[in-house]
Amino acid sequence: MKFGHFDDVSKEYVITAPDTPLPWINYLGNEDFFTILSNTCGGYSFYRDARLRRLTRYRYNNCPLDSEGFHIYIKDGNIIWNPGWQPVKTPLDSYCCRHGLGYSVISGEKNGLSAKQEFLVPMGSNCLLMRVTCENKSGASKRFSLFPYLEFCLWDALDDSSNFQRNYSTGEVEVSGNAIYHKTEYRERRNHYAVFWANRDPAGFDTSRDSFIGTYGSPAVPDAVISGCCKNSVAHGWQPIAAQQFDITLGPGEAYSLIFGLGYIENSDDDKWEEPGIINKAQARRMISEYDSDEAFSRAFNDLRDYWERLLSNYRISSSVEKLDRMVNIWNQYQCMVTFNMSRSASYFESGMGRGMGFRDSCQDLFGFVHMIPERARERILDIASTQLPDGSAYHQYQPLTKKGNLAVGSGFNDDPLWLIAGTDAYLRETGDWSILNESVDFDNDASLAQPLIEHLRRSFSFTASHLGPHGLPLIGRADWNDCLNLNCFSEHPGESFQITGANEGPVAESVFIAGMFVKYGKAWVDILRHMKLDSEAAEAEAAVLSMEKTVLEHGWDGEWFRRAYDAFGHVVGGRECDEGQIFLEPQGMCVMAGIGKDSGEAEKALKSVQKYLDTEYGVVLLTPAYTRYHLELGEISSYPPGYKENAGIFCHNNPWITCAETVLGHGNRAFETYSRICPSYTEDISDIHRTEPYVYSQMIAGKDAAGFGEAKNSWLTGTAAWTFLSISQAILGIKPTLDGLLIDPCIPADCKEYNVSRRYRGAVYNITVKNPASVEHGIKEIRLNGDICHNNLLPLLPSGETADVQVIMGT
Ligand code: BGC
Ligand code: NOJ
Repeated sequence: MKFGHFDDVSKEYVITAPDTPLPWINYLGNEDFFTILSNTCGGYSFYRDARLRRLTRYRYNNCPLDSEGFHIYIKDGNIIWNPGWQPVKTPLDSYCCRHGLGYSVISGEKNGLSAKQEFLVPMGSNCLLMRVTCENKSGASKRFSLFPYLEFCLWDALDDSSNFQRNYSTGEVEVSGNAIYHKTEYRERRNHYAVFWANRDPAGFDTSRDSFIGTYGSPAVPDAVISGCCKNSVAHGWQPIAAQQFDITLGPGEAYSLIFGLGYIENSDDDKWEEPGIINKAQARRMISEYDSDEAFSRAFNDLRDYWERLLSNYRISSSVEKLDRMVNIWNQYQCMVTFNMSRSASYFESGMGRGMGFRDSCQDLFGFVHMIPERARERILDIASTQLPDGSAYHQYQPLTKKGNLAVGSGFNDDPLWLIAGTDAYLRETGDWSILNESVDFDNDASLAQPLIEHLRRSFSFTASHLGPHGLPLIGRADWNDCLNLNCFSEHPGESFQITGANEGPVAESVFIAGMFVKYGKAWVDILRHMKLDSEAAEAEAAVLSMEKTVLEHGWDGEWFRRAYDAFGHVVGGRECDEGQIFLEPQGMCVMAGIGKDSGEAEKALKSVQKYLDTEYGVVLLTPAYTRYHLELGEISSYPPGYKENAGIFCHNNPWITCAETVLGHGNRAFETYSRICPSYTEDISDIHRTEPYVYSQMIAGKDAAGFGEAKNSWLTGTAAWTFLSISQAILGIKPTLDGLLIDPCIPADCKEYNVSRRYRGAVYNITVKNPASVEHGIKEIRLNGDICHNNLLPLLPSGETADVQVIMGT
């Protein structure tokens, strides 16, 4: 069942029923000011940091769901309604939400009156704009009132939702002209305030929630709206809000628009006040006047469209497969950019108050956006690397505002260091910018320890190479990619963190997954060293990689698949002898991607086993059989009920590992099958089962052992976005950036006859047409560049600005 449809021409998802299975959200903002907005106008705004600079309130796990946001109320006679349906939920005569790239348009109609809310965050500005357009579609004149309403957050979202003994007394506002200023704590250490404004004069306003809603009232029946009259209240403490009232009369066919804004302003310390106690509003006034007309709003809209057009033009496919084109060209890349902006901080599942930026997460996210914003990828790599510890290990997380490693979680996640090689390698392959390796980068944010970036990669590699366990496999530490496989934790007390309880690193527990990574990204490291003409170091590294490959086949192979790990007692995890958790997805994906057992047959067998034991109609589960009881020696993984999260959920992040692995073996049909099974545009029809947004990936879909098999959770902020973009754009469609240029190597379903990819790469545009007359899955017969035969499938590097025509014929 669907609740809307894709509009590919406008690059929008069009939601046609407000009561979607869950709120379906969009992200507005590309730089410093962000808003999360649901299809019923729920959501919140923040400046840079969703915890420390939260502008508006949002109550997670609230009931009713998703009621705080950017609502307008319309009182038309005795009927009160919202264009976005919530919070009054008056049945609408029509409703539509269009989520587009960085903007959303939500409209409703009731009794011959239509109202449209257009939301966007303009480029280069720290504000959210909302244009409201009402049209009288009835045959008679209409007189109605319109009330915008939002609730301010007292800046620190955590304190705001917990420290009531203090913050019920701190709230302060000022009202001036058409604007309401939220200035809590500005009198003391803050030099920022928020402003809500309208471009027309309101008939009244409220800034105290108690006045507008009523102390025992509800956003579904606000006192002021029911009575049709704001009370011009000024908040002192309690809950500051911004509400205004506009009384409008429209003749038949007449329309009326209003522009609202919510801005964030910072003043310097010596310029805080206009008069004692009165905040300096000069910047706010400039912001308000910048967007006071329909023309200004339209200009901001056009700038935003241009911005996205530019970003998405670096990789564009046209095939005859609509579902594929819309994911590759629009939604997958869009999600990668949102993930770049947010990391894992703020969504409808991430409260914005939780984790900092993940070391490994941020490195992997690079795969999805490096081709769009290489300069910002460069900056990100240097930020991440500067949190690395001198021995090559890494803080698991760092704080975006301070860019410092997070002491509370610390280090010991032994896959982290290798992801730095993976991310930097992706950057080098995309850009050819070798200068990054010479950039001096701190260790542990300490300038006295700074070394060139290449030294960071070296230490990443040698950290893994030198932390091996009894079988010669890498020690797992607190966990590897799977945060919930905590083999040194042994937590017996509720409330303890699985991630930081127990030893940082035991001498026994080993990870086959990290071994696979060491082979895969170790090979990348060897290539980098060769490029740098560091031949003897390259040879040494290569020897370590080859030896690890052997070790994996010797101690990590179970007969039909790769094992997962060895626990702290040296027992196999993910092997035939285990009563639960016999086979895991991660090592099959990573080891085969690394090429382990490719020639000797283990790789084939491993992927067959994945298909046999882990496949479901909704994707590949992480492991089977699911853990049914708590295993002290395994940690968090066995804490989840069977089928959820890391305990045999369909963890979408590593489904593309299987897709990529299948292409290593030339299996185009199966690669595409695993791609499409979790691909939002392909699963749109089961939106009622998935429940999350059908235009983006979710972190997890409940696995076959779960009561809610097929139900997705944690949409938007997940490494799935980057990995699936990599799997489709590079592994399947076969346009692969390498250190030396673009390599063409498609691995596609046999029935795919032809497609075209326009790829901007190192400044040149390659217009690549792939034809598959012999219906093969893999293999190239001929490549021509501007008509000339190429002697191998590595395209020559072209001067920036040039466009080349590339014709690829697949076959044998
Ligand atoms: C989640 C992981 C997360 C970890 C650490 C687990 O509950 O499943 O996705 O990374 O907690 O916060
Ligand atoms: C989500 C975390 O952000 C990521 O770092 C981890 O790899 C996966 N969960 C799996 O545990």
